[in-house]
Amino acid sequence: MNNINGKTNIYGLIGNPVEHTLSPMIHNMLSQHFGHNLVYVPFLVEEGDLEQAIYGAKALNIKGLNITVPYKSQVIPYLEKTTTLANQVGAVNTLIATKRGFEGYNTDCLGLKRALVSDGIYIEGKTVIIIGGGGAARATAFLCAQEGASHIYLLNRTLEKINSIASEIMDCYKDCLVEPVILVNFDDISEDAPLVFQTTSIGLGSNSHHAPIEEKEFYQKIKIGYDLIYDPFKTKFMSLVEEAGGKSYNGLKMLLYQGIIAYELWNNVTVTEELSMKIYEKLKRALNHNE
Ligand code: ATR
Repeated sequence: MNNINGKTNIYGLIGNPVEHTLSPMIHNMLSQHFGHNLVYVPFLVEEGDLEQAIYGAKALNIKGLNITVPYKSQVIPYLEKTTTLANQVGAVNTLIATKRGFEGYNTDCLGLKRALVSDGIYIEGKTVIIIGGGGAARATAFLCAQEGASHIYLLNRTLEKINSIASEIMDCYKDCLVEPVILVNFDDISEDAPLVFQTTSIGLGSNSHHAPIEEKEFYQKIKIGYDLIYDPFKTKFMSLVEEAGGKSYNGLKMLLYQGIIAYELWNNVTVTEELSMKIYEKLKRALNHNE
């Protein structure tokens, strides 16, 4: 940090709130490792200021940005170009500066993909259940379809949201059957699902003692439960999966790899799994989880 000079490149995170972000830790460790002359800083952007923030960042020669809640979809109109995946998902979390403006990527999806590989979880040909119907569910569902899931059940409290996700996915991926099911009717899913993603906010903060489905019968069917939440480190959903004999994972590796992939895109480097795991351990310590 003391070495900032005239050649230092600026990267950052735009969102609201941003105070609790772990992203600077990821990017600072990577820049130290590679000896890159850059800084990564959080930028709190108030509602209504997003357009000015994006054009202002470009004018200030900021080389790249991450975008977080609540701006991942709102940012799209202010970009020069977006990748096919980011377009399908309707959300962008990484911007790369080009001559004319910023290009938008979705490294949340790519990060989840790399996290699954790192944990030895493969989706191709599998039946998957996704709990939730918001942006995270949508991103997870598109990733699963892209990775060759044969059957996706979308489970959500509100049917309209998952109906539209299902039809959009089936328009893009003809070999993937996507079935929306209302959350309370989870019993309608008769087949065993090897893999379930938990994408709702239930399990976070004041909701940490809850899971979107609390009935034990649901968990009998699950072999692997993947919660996108990472704080708490073990959610109620994960405990229920394990109590029923399944294996559970949290979202910390997804967070890690979305950052790593952004860094790789910005700096044209490849981050090894060994270095990734070093950063992972540091993130775990920052969350006060030393297991
Ligand atoms: P994100 O974009 O991060 O996925 P979101 O759009 O707010 O966040 O979506 C949150 C998801 O959690 C939604 O699917 C929401 O269900 P609805 O679509 O029915 O609103 C789900 N969710 C939040 N609180 C819930 C609760 N108490 N019970 C069931 N589902 C809940």
